[in-house]
Amino acid sequence: MIIAIDGPAASGKGTLGKRLAHHYGYRHLDTGVIYRAVAKALLDAGAELTDEAQAVAVAMELDPEKFGDPVLKTQRVGEAASVVSAIPRVREALVDFQRHFAAGPPGAVLDGRDIGTVICPDADVKIFVVADPKVRARRRTLEAKARGEDADEARVLADILARDERDQNRATAPLKAAADAYLLDNSHLDIESGVRAAIDIVEAVRAGRQRV
Ligand code: CDP
Ligand code: CDP
Repeated sequence: MIIAIDGPAASGKGTLGKRLAHHYGYRHLDTGVIYRAVAKALLDAGAELTDEAQAVAVAMELDPEKFGDPVLKTQRVGEAASVVSAIPRVREALVDFQRHFAAGPPGAVLDGRDIGTVICPDADVKIFVVADPKVRARRRTLEAKARGEDADEARVLADILARDERDQNRATAPLKAAADAYLLDNSHLDIESGVRAAIDIVEAVRAGRQRV
């Protein structure tokens, strides 16, 4: 069983992915962390984010043990991740790791931008999560403040919109809902209600399958 969750920045994909994985006893991979790790390695090395050769080299040597680094969650690294993730060869270098993760037992939930379209086009359930940009900016600002960072909501909104624009318009694996994805708008849902709505989708797909 593979559950693919995609959606724009701060739509709640990660939270939902984690909760769904917990509910079903599956493993969870936040694929954004992978691109963030590539971006952080380039920033640390003082390299250009558009340096294809170095970005690919970094992508091929990633250490999943470091995916928990809290610096990866920052706005700055997220912005840099959206620049390096537009390089096709960087994306290619990361495909096998993601597919291997998805295929392992007992099941997996992956969240990102291209899980339902490119990484796992045959996923059992695909959910495309969306939320109003202002709601997303509010959530991210609260999160940054809780971490003790100084975040200006208007600035966070501008960053989110710029990142969505870049992710939607890149040539390779752009952010978009797969044709067979279920749309979940959580603008007016708290986390619990969003998780419940997603479980309902998964259960409906399973029930439909049993009837066949
Ligand atoms: O958490 P948030 O939605 O802000 O970002 P993220 O999911 O951690 O992703 C950071 C950046 O990585 C995105 O803006 C995308 O450019 C890129 N990304 C991607 O291209 N493909 C994925 N499957 C996941 C992330
Ligand atoms: O992974 P992604 O960037 O799409 O979003 P996230 O990190 O899961 O969620 C962004 C923020 O929104 C987190 O602080 C969540 O707790 C919050 N959130 C919320 O307040 N209500 C929801 N229905 C979903 C997420």
